[in-house]
Amino acid sequence: MIMVPPKQFRLLDRSLRRVVDARLPLATHFYGRLFAAHPALRPLFPTDLTAQQRKFEDMLVVLVSGLTVPDGVAGALRQLAVSHIGYGAKPEHYPVVAEVLMDSLRTLPGAGLLPEELGAWSGLLDTMVYVLVEETRAAMT
Ligand code: HEM
Repeated sequence: MIMVPPKQFRLLDRSLRRVVDARLPLATHFYGRLFAAHPALRPLFPTDLTAQQRKFEDMLVVLVSGLTVPDGVAGALRQLAVSHIGYGAKPEHYPVVAEVLMDSLRTLPGAGLLPEELGAWSGLLDTMVYVLVEETRAAMT
């Protein structure tokens, strides 16, 4: 079960609103940075990323809103881990992707995340990576 203290939730929720409204879509920014830093991951993804970008942002919204509900996030992360095994994601990819996502949140034009908001994201992503890696390992054995 992943729940966060109310203060952390408020920081995530209010900053996610700004991220979703930012001038440049987070997903565009994120995938650009991901493939620039890790070109070996590009072939795993479809050529046309339009649908993927929307799904990725929607998933962040689902995960953050799930934080207020007991077990609201655990099931979503389990499914994500299982579907990602089929996409070729390995446990060691998760910290790499989370680092690029953190960097993308830090630099997203027009979102201006504050240090305490970035701290809340960093905590959430650390937990997500831990759960995704554990679920991936469990599903692979
Ligand atoms: C922070 C963790 C991550 C989140 C929240 C996330 C989210 C998503 C979502 C929502 C989708 C759409 C399809 C679905 O729901 O299954 C997706 C697809 C995909 N993800 Fe991730 N992902 C994450 C980490 C990763 C990692 C570590 C990799 C490995 C390189 C990866 C590779 C892919 C690929 C290749 C697809 C698309 C497959 C296709 O449509 O053919 N993702 N991801």
